[in-house]
Amino acid sequence: MSQVLRFLLDGEVLELRDIEPTTTVLDWLRYHRSRTGSKEGCAEGDCGACTVVVAELSAAGVVAYRAVNACILFLPMLHEKALLTVESLGGDHPVQKAMVELHGSQCGFCTPGIVMSLYARSLGGAGTVEADAKDVLAGNLCRCTGYGPILEAACATPFAALDETLADRLRAMQSDDPLDLPGWIAPKTVDQLAQVLVERPQARIIAGATDVGLWVTKQHRSLPDIVYIGDVSDLSDMSETAEGLTLGAGVRYSDAHAALTRLHPSLGELVRRIGAVQVRNSGTIGGNIANGSPIGDMPPALIALGASVTLRRGDVRRTIPLEDFFIAYGRQDRQPGEFVESVFIPRPTGLYRVVKLSKRFDSDISAVCGAFHVTIANGVVTAARVAFGGMAGTPKRTMACEAALAGQPWSQATLEAAALALRQDYQPLSDVRGSSEYRLTSAANLVRKLWFDGVSVLDVRPVHA
Ligand SMILES: Cc1cc2nc3c(=O)[nH]c(=O)nc-3n(C[C@H](O)[C@H](O)[C@H](O)COP(=O)(O)OP(=O)(O)OC[C@H]3O[C@@H](n4cnc5c(N)ncnc54)[C@H](O)[C@@H]3O)c2cc1C
Ligand code: FES
Ligand code: FES
Repeated sequence: MSQVLRFLLDGEVLELRDIEPTTTVLDWLRYHRSRTGSKEGCAEGDCGACTVVVAELSAAGVVAYRAVNACILFLPMLHEKALLTVESLGGDHPVQKAMVELHGSQCGFCTPGIVMSLYARSLGGAGTVEADAKDVLAGNLCRCTGYGPILEAACATPFAALDETLADRLRAMQSDDPLDLPGWIAPKTVDQLAQVLVERPQARIIAGATDVGLWVTKQHRSLPDIVYIGDVSDLSDMSETAEGLTLGAGVRYSDAHAALTRLHPSLGELVRRIGAVQVRNSGTIGGNIANGSPIGDMPPALIALGASVTLRRGDVRRTIPLEDFFIAYGRQDRQPGEFVESVFIPRPTGLYRVVKLSKRFDSDISAVCGAFHVTIANGVVTAARVAFGGMAGTPKRTMACEAALAGQPWSQATLEAAALALRQDYQPLSDVRGSSEYRLTSAANLVRKLWFDGVSVLDVRPVHA
């Protein structure tokens, strides 16, 4: 066990003891180091003013850079990694020069975060390589510039030379010892994790902290006993077979994006709309499932595919259909000491679509998320799985809609009947994201829309079996 939190900041190895584990990196920078370049706009991962870059050694031994939100990143999550902040760039970095010369900054509040997002991109950072500049900046709000000059600066920014010595310095810091601070333990293997949770069944698991971080910054909850799973290397495993994709519970969105896109482009597109790069660089699919939110985006998409989840307590594993994991609002089928180990996502075999409806295209939580998996043979629907988020207290299949599809001719009339059937299964709540009636009407329209391929209103074509 290591009782010392160790990480690199500007080439210096920092060793911290006696820290409160839920201190955010942003608060530590600003209030403990007087390093005030990183700004606090929202303290909930939405505005990107606090963006920093974290560098870590990947399983392949190369340095992976990630732009993340420091406001919801707990300090011990930096253990054995390197932290880069806007101060690390010095002032005349090409990204900073481009922002100045192309007038990408006005009031300047958003600028450090934008610089760090573009810096991560210039390093080939996670989630940025093949992404459009607009996607790279979707998690950085600017109220002044209208984004035009910032996008010009993004396009003018060359790829940076990588720090060749960083891999060696990170390697020198790695150890097999879990970090063990008062109130925080970070196992390094999945067997250690299983053992720790048997001993501390009431401990709070943290993966990317993109949900849990807000419990601290917004709800001021105290988390006295935390088991952090981000250092468990074998929870980041991914394997693809002809049958489908298995993701360890610790796989982050940005790392799963390519594999999910290969499984089906609709899944890739859904991931593109989960938070923004900074959230996808921290958040995990395991966390999205385990959190049990009725408006989490991955569960309906995966339930429609017939995904299953493997839970583990000690040495005992059980695998259940993902839909059975969600019992009721706020209640999941998980025993104390049990954790989500992996999720298996079958390859789609027929027509598959996921559609997310939210008030804003980027970086917004769904009002309704519909997922449809329909197999059609000789013009007849032979199988249908339809699931929605935002329509009930849990992500939920609609048996009435599925029954209205199965065995019926693939036709507009069948989809109309299926759309009307939704009301038998769902009585959604009204809230700030949408009224009950809006949710029912729009969900029914998503079913009708299946007749027309694609989600763009500019590209409406009939789907023929
Ligand atoms: C700005 C912002 C935008 C967001 N946008 C979206 C969005 O568009 N769509 C969406 O669905 N979500 C969104 N989220 C929510 C969040 O990012 C996701 O739910 C994410 O997948 C959570 O993963 P995490 O690893 O950060 O979980 P954490 O916050 O670490 O944990 C979440 C919960 O899961 C539990 N947990 C985590 N891993 C395990 C495990 N292996 N076993 C058992 N329990 C576990 C934790 O104890 C906790 O209860 C957003 C969040 C933010 C801050
Ligand atoms: S302060 Fe807004 S994302 Fe961190
Ligand atoms: S320059 Fe003012 S918020 Fe972006």
